Amino acid sequence: MSQPSSDDLIALGQQRWLPVYRPRDVVLDHGRGARLWDREGRDYVDFAAGIAVCSLGHADPDLVAALTEQAGKLWHASNVFYTEPPLRLAEELVAASRFAERVFLCNSGAEANEAAIKLVRRWATQKGRPPEKRVILTFRGSFHGRTLATVTATAQPKYQEGFEPLPGGFRYSTFNDLDAVAAEFGSGDIAAVLVEPVQGEGGVMPAAPGFLSGLRALCDQHDVLLVLDEIQCGMGRTGTLFAHWQDEVTPDIVTLAKALGAGFPIGAMLAGPKVAEVLGFGSHGTTFGGNPLAAAVARVALRKLASPAIEANVNRQSEVIRDGLSALNAELDLFVGIRGRGLMLGAVLKPELAGRAGEVLDHAARAGLLILQAGPDVLRFVPPLNISDEEVADGMQRLGTALRAFTDSPSLS
Ligand SMILES: Cc1ncc(COP(=O)(O)O)c(C=O)c1O
Repeated sequence: MSQPSSDDLIALGQQRWLPVYRPRDVVLDHGRGARLWDREGRDYVDFAAGIAVCSLGHADPDLVAALTEQAGKLWHASNVFYTEPPLRLAEELVAASRFAERVFLCNSGAEANEAAIKLVRRWATQKGRPPEKRVILTFRGSFHGRTLATVTATAQPKYQEGFEPLPGGFRYSTFNDLDAVAAEFGSGDIAAVLVEPVQGEGGVMPAAPGFLSGLRALCDQHDVLLVLDEIQCGMGRTGTLFAHWQDEVTPDIVTLAKALGAGFPIGAMLAGPKVAEVLGFGSHGTTFGGNPLAAAVARVALRKLASPAIEANVNRQSEVIRDGLSALNAELDLFVGIRGRGLMLGAVLKPELAGRAGEVLDHAARAGLLILQAGPDVLRFVPPLNISDEEVADGMQRLGTALRAFTDSPSLS
């Protein structure tokens, strides 16, 4: 049988997938490090990393070894029996986190946040608070997932519209505005604050200095839990293993996914001393939680992502990409700002280019570079954390080609 062409495969996707995604017209075939190849043999520099997932690039030999070794041994037993990889992973996450006592393993970011939401509600219940006093405060511009509860936590109408009725017990405040948050606490009905240390999907917006520690203080004052969603910004992406280390706060709960498995699906909720015993036997669960294949990979990913070499590389390449973006902006005048932390960077398009980020992504793909959009007008750069000097240089050169082509495109001239 002859190999189907990329066009055949794209047509298949358009016919058979639920049309909830609109991928770029590229069928990727294989990868190594921060470089990918499509089925026609064209190569791409990967500044997208499967949406901030493949933090050790593609086909990392240590991850491949961990996965294949486990695949030859035991695939799944669920939570009715113990297996070693998830036990070790939990122990290693607790040690690495500097705050957690217990870990709930699951399969995705939304599922980790669902666990956190349920934990908060049960905690408030155990404290004797009535349902109307179990509100979870989240922030406009946030993103916490696509299940009904996490999409409600996601304070962006475009993700919610048409899915009403939404679950109750969520309220929204303004990111980086402590006065606005303090005013919300006045009503005395808040059980937890759920926040990303760096907002990802909403537009690569870091917490301002003092914002998270201010939230911590308010939470302490009002006996409210602080839940940090590090699903996108965690696991070394911002230059420290946990993003909130840079804000010097101790959370009650942290959620992880994405880079936790470096490409193998896994999520986790880490629970600190105040809440580690809240969810008792039978109160929560998931069939695939603690799957040995996922856990075996995540153990190796954690060890590698926590290394000083990764931290140094993140900080170094961050500077190189920022400098490259500034130089391109000096030439082409496309951005009003460059923001983010570590290798979670955003270039904010000028207001007159709002709505045109997708075109830039198309030009980038044509130039052999994979990048992402965040919010309506931000180009997002989240490459593997072990990306090499040569890959970064090549990627920035391709970005220049793409941005020049965008600038020359008919609708701009
Ligand atoms: C901060 C944050 N939280 C939660 C999620 C949801 O994760 P998942 O898509 O694995 O359910 C995402 C995904 O982009 C995210 O960026």
